[in-house]
Amino acid sequence: MTENHRVRIFDTTLRDGEQAAGINLNREEKLRIALQLAKMNVDVIEAGFPAASPGDFEAVKLIADTVKGPVIAGLARTRKEDIRSAAEAVRGAGRGRIHTFIATSPIHMEFKLKMTPEQVVEEVRQAVTYARSLVEDVEFSAEDASRSDVSFLAEVFRTAADCGAGTLNIPDTVGYAVPEEFGAFVRTVIEATDRPGVTWSVHCHNDLGMAVANSLAAVRAGAGQVECTVNGLGERAGNASLEEVVMGLRTRRDSYGCETSLDTTKLWGVSSMVSRMTGFPVPPNKAVVGSNAFAHEAGIHQHGVLCNRATYEIMNPEDVGAPGSRLVLGKHSGKHAFRQRVEEMGFSLSEEKITEAMALFKTLCDRKEIVTSEDLEAMINSEILAAAESRRIVL
Ligand code: KIV
Ligand code: ZN
Repeated sequence: MTENHRVRIFDTTLRDGEQAAGINLNREEKLRIALQLAKMNVDVIEAGFPAASPGDFEAVKLIADTVKGPVIAGLARTRKEDIRSAAEAVRGAGRGRIHTFIATSPIHMEFKLKMTPEQVVEEVRQAVTYARSLVEDVEFSAEDASRSDVSFLAEVFRTAADCGAGTLNIPDTVGYAVPEEFGAFVRTVIEATDRPGVTWSVHCHNDLGMAVANSLAAVRAGAGQVECTVNGLGERAGNASLEEVVMGLRTRRDSYGCETSLDTTKLWGVSSMVSRMTGFPVPPNKAVVGSNAFAHEAGIHQHGVLCNRATYEIMNPEDVGAPGSRLVLGKHSGKHAFRQRVEEMGFSLSEEKITEAMALFKTLCDRKEIVTSEDLEAMINSEILAAAESRRIVL
């Protein structure tokens, strides 16, 4: 186990999350989400990209002027006008940050930026120096870092640090990395850059479904900040999911040896709010915040959970603010859960009647996709079971 340290959570739901095709939040909606993120204690809220549109500028400004607690960041390309706009937008924040970025991979430099590596280094020098002349707190990101040459990347990061960037971010922009490789890459970049005072950050996309695993591998390799989004929203397949990163670190602190400052009991509520406002539903099987995350259907599992929840639950639902564990009755369910549900519904049946009702219930499960409590009640009240011993206790 490594030494216990705190990993900062940089939430970019309002910037990279909103970049997901089909999401468009207005200023007031962004503010409402930012207020909840602050209540949950995230360390940094990236509120938007002020130069992207007048609406984004206004949203970042409103959040910077209103939300207290977290650092409020505005994204900026390395262009002067972007940096000026970000500085203006975050001016009202107790703690404002300019987050400036430029790509460092050969493919991005050649085809997108049409710049040489030397020009990119010079651009970073000018951008970070200018940003630092406007605010104290500057973060620099090397876009597509995971597909960049390590010694060039280290040179770029050294330049950014020497010009005053306090946070250096290593994005896996296209979700190309795999955990063991990315962990080793992050460790090498940190060592090669050799600037002990800075905070190292990672920003992983989910194109191969590995954004959370890559982020956690980076924490093990020395990253002190993880960039992520509520429900994993973001460009293409999204970003690392905040709730999974936070609960991964918390549930396996024996392995990672670190903590975040988040009030995890707010995760469920924030996830539901973001889902409602973006119109992006949370899949039932989504880790941590899906409606099935604490639901058990198989008989063996239900029996285990009834004996001791920890047999099949590695997190307590109340720790993430979930409504609680659910034993879902279905064709895979066993007698223990069936009896418990029947008793919860107020029926007191003999062992023989339970067996009879359960057989009937399984037949019903084969016919109907969803068997509701009402179906169950009707079934128990049906003629076969409406014998004198089927006594209703609670209506
Ligand atoms: O994915 C990415 O590289 C980004 C940067 C702007 C940090 O979103
Ligand atoms: Zn991104």
